[in-house]
Amino acid sequence: MRMLFGLICVLLFFITGHLCYLILSPTGPVSVEALVGTSVTLEVSHSGASQPVVTWFMGSLPVASWTVGISSTSDYAANYTNVLTAEQNGSLTFRNVSLGYNGTYTVEMIKIGKGRVSAKFYLFVYDIIKNVSVHTDPDEAIEGERAFTLYSSTIPGEAKEVRWFFNGIQLENGPHYFINGKNLTINKPSRNDTGRYTAVLTNPFSTETRHRNITVLYGPDRPVLKVSPTKAVFVSGESVFLSCEGDGVPPPSATWLFSGLSIPTSSAGTVNLTDVKTSQSGIYTCTLKNTRTGAELERNITINIYESPSGEPLCSVHAVSGNIELQFLCVWPGGAPKAQVSFPSLSTNGTGEGNFSVTIRDSQSLNGQKIICNAEHPLIHTQCSVIPCAPLDFQPVIFTNMSQDENTTVVIHCYSEATPEAITHWFKDGHRLENGPKYQISTNTVELFINDFNASSADLNTYTCTAINPLGNRNMDAKLLGPQISGSGVFLSNYHTEVTLKWEVPPTSVITGFDILLKGPALFSPRPLNVASEFRTIQMMPATSRTTNISGLDPKSTYYFRILPKAGRTVGQQSEQHRIGPGTGLSGAAIAGIAAGIPCCIFVLLFLLGVIYCSKRDGNPRYPVSKAVEKVVVSPTSLANPHKMLRGLKPPPEYRLQQFEQSGPLPSVHSRMRMATTV
Ligand SMILES: *[C@@H]1O[C@H](CO)[C@@H](O)[C@H](O)[C@H]1NC(C)=O
Ligand SMILES: *[C@@H]1O[C@H](CO)[C@@H](O)[C@H](O)[C@H]1NC(C)=O
Ligand SMILES: *[C@@H]1O[C@H](CO)[C@@H](O)[C@H](O)[C@H]1NC(C)=O
Ligand SMILES: *[C@@H]1O[C@H](CO)[C@@H](O)[C@H](O)[C@H]1NC(C)=O
Ligand SMILES: *[C@@H]1O[C@H](CO)[C@@H](O)[C@H](O)[C@H]1NC(C)=O
Repeated sequence: MRMLFGLICVLLFFITGHLCYLILSPTGPVSVEALVGTSVTLEVSHSGASQPVVTWFMGSLPVASWTVGISSTSDYAANYTNVLTAEQNGSLTFRNVSLGYNGTYTVEMIKIGKGRVSAKFYLFVYDIIKNVSVHTDPDEAIEGERAFTLYSSTIPGEAKEVRWFFNGIQLENGPHYFINGKNLTINKPSRNDTGRYTAVLTNPFSTETRHRNITVLYGPDRPVLKVSPTKAVFVSGESVFLSCEGDGVPPPSATWLFSGLSIPTSSAGTVNLTDVKTSQSGIYTCTLKNTRTGAELERNITINIYESPSGEPLCSVHAVSGNIELQFLCVWPGGAPKAQVSFPSLSTNGTGEGNFSVTIRDSQSLNGQKIICNAEHPLIHTQCSVIPCAPLDFQPVIFTNMSQDENTTVVIHCYSEATPEAITHWFKDGHRLENGPKYQISTNTVELFINDFNASSADLNTYTCTAINPLGNRNMDAKLLGPQISGSGVFLSNYHTEVTLKWEVPPTSVITGFDILLKGPALFSPRPLNVASEFRTIQMMPATSRTTNISGLDPKSTYYFRILPKAGRTVGQQSEQHRIGPGTGLSGAAIAGIAAGIPCCIFVLLFLLGVIYCSKRDGNPRYPVSKAVEKVVVSPTSLANPHKMLRGLKPPPEYRLQQFEQSGPLPSVHSRMRMATTV
């Protein structure tokens, strides 16, 4: 149709020489911006025809229509009358324009025969921007969430353009930011997005700026656990300080758990463990929680609390399997963890926790060898040792005991030092002795009790004791002797009114007591008769005594003394006779006693030197060598009180003093001797 019109027009132009087209053109910009309340004109001009009819449309709705140049009045759509003014040239003026007139306007001109033309205008009415606000979705920015959006809004006033700034730097669309009109979307917000966001809203008539501080919540980050003091292992009783920290906004709260139970935690996330016990060893878990986001993160730490085993490890060796096998035992109880104990020289790889034993069948080769147990605990490495030892030589010791009804019991004591303790077997005449009414063997087997001992019968015999342990055995004979005196002497006191009798007996002599016999005037007699009479008993001494004092002597009279040993009802051989009287400062017997004493004292001296030498050679005190004991036993050095003897002995005093002082500092030997001679 238009093509046809155009063709006709071109033809008419060439025929008449006149332009036949109506031409319409905007005189100003087609995009018009106006502030609310002001007036604005959408201006047009036309040519090619006079007095065309002009019609303005808002969108498709006609709002005004008039004939240019003829009628100054116009037809207006309802509600537009007070706002619109029709201009003579076809332009349209808005008075006191409001936001409601925003829109697209089309002007159309028609002249019959000259065609119909139109033009488009865009009217933008703006208000002054006020009351800008920014709100967010979601309310809180959380690190790692998908997106976080800031919305800006205004009441009233529409912004033509919104620019966003972060910490003063303008933001652009990109992978991280998406700006859509008034909204800013942050993709996957992180803690680095915390800061000040600024929205700058502008329209042609105003600019408004709005700041919003955004804090991106994050954390807790992986907890950092610290233990102080810094060490791998704590010892019970120490204090342990635990801390748990992790970054986060808001700062995360920490809780500590041990074996499923929470433990008191300070607000800073620290835990004080004081005087720790081994039961507190284990995994401690710290949980950090972001109270705003609910995010949690936990981490474990292992605290080792050790304790030394109690005391020292104890090594021992026992006879097992009927006194045939040796069982080595190493015990070190307690502690955490348990100590590892082992006998490296006995078994190469065996080890026990706090307790270990090894049983050895053919153990003879271990005799005298130091067997070491290694005891290893993380806190202490130590060891103990035991030296298995076959029974050593020993000396049987005899005790005699008489009951009220004069029944005599003889006890033979055979103790052989051995590791493990030896078991003693008892024999008489080649027959093994068993427990019964006549013989009783102590539970530790080292003592044989012979009841109703009759020193006139076959009870007086040789008894054999055999000490046995898995490493070997040792036999000793105890040849019991009847009551007898092996040596005796008499010593006068300073004023010749008192004598001291001293005597000795063989170590295996069975004795229950002594009678002291006197021949001479009555004691304490004011006028003693120096007449010889029969020997009479003046004292009865117990089996343990080896000396007695007799007072009330008359220095001018002569006295004779004898000692009579007894075993129950059996009377032994009495001692030689000792004479005291005028002309004898010292009796012949006494001189003999001294003479006998000198070599004996020398022997004691040698023995002492021997003991000192031996004890230097090996640190462990041993049972004294039996032979020496035997000799010492019969020497007069076992006299109970050497000082009393000194008083009795005038010539040569210095020599005696020396001897006793040398035998003095040997208490162990002394006590042994006494025990050995306690018959
Ligand atoms: C806009 O802000 C002003 C003052 O800043 C206030 O008085 C007014 O009530 C606000 N208007 C709205 C619609 O919020
Ligand atoms: C926002 O942060 C800035 C510094 O970044 C500070 O100066 C300002 O006071 C903050 N505003 C609010 C409302 O917290
Ligand atoms: C933990 O122990 C430390 C050091 O002994 C002390 O300074 C601190 O006050 C203690 N804290 C608590 C909660 O007991
Ligand atoms: C921490 O230890 C507990 C057992 O005590 C275990 O269940 C948990 O998985 C551990 N946690 C971590 C993070 O290793
Ligand atoms: C002691 O033994 C002898 C000889 O066997 C005997 O004659 C005597 O009666 C016995 N004594 C006692 C008290 O049994």
